[in-house]
Amino acid sequence: MKQLVSVTNIFPQVALDKLTSKCDLKTNESGLSLTKEELGRMVSESDAIITYLSDKIDRDIIDQATKLKIIANYGAGFNNIDVNHAFQKGIWVTNTPSVLHETTADLTWAMILGAARRIIPADRYTREGKFKGWGAKVFLGGDVYGKTLGIIGCGEIGRSVARRAIGFNMRVLYHQRNRLAHEEEKILNAKFIPLNELLRDSDFITLHVPLTDETEYMIGNDEIDLMKKTAYLVHTARGKVIDDYALVAALKEGRLAGAALDVYEDEPEILEDMTELDNLMLLPHIGSASFETRDRMALLVADNVLDTFSGKTPRTLVPSYPR
Ligand code: DGY
Repeated sequence: MKQLVSVTNIFPQVALDKLTSKCDLKTNESGLSLTKEELGRMVSESDAIITYLSDKIDRDIIDQATKLKIIANYGAGFNNIDVNHAFQKGIWVTNTPSVLHETTADLTWAMILGAARRIIPADRYTREGKFKGWGAKVFLGGDVYGKTLGIIGCGEIGRSVARRAIGFNMRVLYHQRNRLAHEEEKILNAKFIPLNELLRDSDFITLHVPLTDETEYMIGNDEIDLMKKTAYLVHTARGKVIDDYALVAALKEGRLAGAALDVYEDEPEILEDMTELDNLMLLPHIGSASFETRDRMALLVADNVLDTFSGKTPRTLVPSYPR
């Protein structure tokens, strides 16, 4: 009998095709997240489960596993999974690193440029028939070229963002727990500095840290108050890294020039006030959303499942999985 692989949500066909000859497949085609009960049921009957970041795979859910061998997350982030508990139960946990960083860096740059040059409000203004001719003060924004970019979290995505900054002739500052190797800093032309200094000196600040106890709400009122009034904040990591209430208040009060968010504290809910702010770009968590990248991510997920079924250690265990 073939082993059962269940997918909690809609999944790229290319990866389903890869799995289909070797496994039985069960998918949720509704486009809606499963309820806790549905998720538990799926876990209890499956040999492998492919999960989304919106599926909370906590202790209760994991305890319902009877023969589950792997939780293969369709994403680089894995804060939705109790990794330690899965480990205790002998269940692998994998994610999708090294296939989505360039795409997420592309989006980060779209957000940097879009926020600085007010692209979305300008488009809306034009569509609404308000464009009556060239004006010296129509939609003035901030320059990007030659400014200072502060990168918080210089992993794969942060480094890809830094590489693109070279073309914009920017001074690049970065902060993270561990300093990069000197050679890498040279290639990226990036300077390691303490967080407070990065917040004070940057014109654009972009976040690329995972959500952990250490990074939860790392940007709140006090940190925003250190930033320049002319600065822009860009966020494509995980919502809870920023205190959204503090950000909205700062944008309303002109303590920050603008921001662009792809992720939210209580995703998919957003604060009502957010929709009224013209200096805030709002995106629906699309950092890795290119055709090519989503297929690459899904194929990697399938490889992790197939590795497991053939008795191997899956190729991309999450970094916090005990080895
Ligand atoms: C990730 O990979 O963690 C993204 O946020 C989901 O695509």
